[in-house]
Amino acid sequence: MDPKSQVLLRQAEYFTRTLLLAGAPADELLSELAQAQAWCWLADDYAALQSRYADRVSFSHQPPAAETEDAVLFLPKSRELTEFLLQTLASLPGMQRLFLVGEKKAGIERAARQLAKLGKTWKLDSARHCQLWLCELDPGTTSALKQWQQTFTVSLPEGSSVQLCSLPGVFSHGRLDAGTALLLEHLEGLPSGDLLDFGCGAGVIGTALKVRYPKSNVSLLDVDAFAIESSKRTLELNGLEAEVLVCSGIADAPRQLAAIVTNPPFHKGVQTHYQATEELIRQAAVHLQPGGELRLVANSFLRYPELIEKHLGKCRVLAERNGFRVYSAKRAG
Ligand SMILES: C[S@@+](CC[C@H](N)C(=O)[O-])C[C@H]1O[C@@H](n2cnc3c(N)ncnc32)[C@H](O)[C@@H]1O
Repeated sequence: MDPKSQVLLRQAEYFTRTLLLAGAPADELLSELAQAQAWCWLADDYAALQSRYADRVSFSHQPPAAETEDAVLFLPKSRELTEFLLQTLASLPGMQRLFLVGEKKAGIERAARQLAKLGKTWKLDSARHCQLWLCELDPGTTSALKQWQQTFTVSLPEGSSVQLCSLPGVFSHGRLDAGTALLLEHLEGLPSGDLLDFGCGAGVIGTALKVRYPKSNVSLLDVDAFAIESSKRTLELNGLEAEVLVCSGIADAPRQLAAIVTNPPFHKGVQTHYQATEELIRQAAVHLQPGGELRLVANSFLRYPELIEKHLGKCRVLAERNGFRVYSAKRAG
């Protein structure tokens, strides 16, 4: 069981009322806390929990509608997402107590200071490199998703621009990432046909693809409900149509693609994690049509070229700047 869940169970006497577990890990905690329901925003955690606890689990960028008296927030990586989730949970009808649990190295003490703004707050436990905090909520907290969304303009190399909308917790919230910027300068000459933005975040690559290749079907895919919602809002802001897919990895992606274009993931939750990207590279050929292309931006130090050459074909460097490289490889025709 996840160490954070273990710390919760050391204090099980606190968890006897109706309870929402926000961002719960995919473990057996729901078996131990029979009155709890879980809210997930990562599709892989959701799928794992849903297969065991069906109607007690929801997946969305918004909390479930059913009222609970208590909630536990499992500390996410992003500071903005933490702030947003604390306020959103505190503002739910009927919510009285908000617990916060997370690893010390993930910044639980800083997050506890954010929690303390919502009511009387104290530390309940510290074990397994984690801390558990409790806040008895003051009434009157409000939170509207719109106040947390950031919109900004991204100029495209061909002279046009697009509007981006990002929600808290989404990669590079409120600004264009330097690696993505380099990739946007090298979207020329993709094979014609269906295009995929793998790990779309706020949807910047997929949106730029749709602007540059208006006749192609473009799909945008992400594991994170906040990214999915951001991408939908981005497409709508720009009056563009594309398919936005919730997926836990490349296995769920469309096939017969002309190109997969990506700034791929290097985190899962608070951990550095390359598994989804390595799997993408291993399986790209299965999802590309003959002659289809994988175009990927990554930190230069990552050893993706070897993996790309092993599983797809010759890997070319299209561009290099400030520690990032744009790679291109094609499936044999
Ligand atoms: C480096 S960010 C790039 C975001 C966006 N394309 C950009 O350039 O700003 C990688 C994205 O991959 C998503 N991601 C992480 N794991 C994933 C997985 N297993 N399957 C699909 N997407 C994933 C993350 O949620 C994140 O939005």
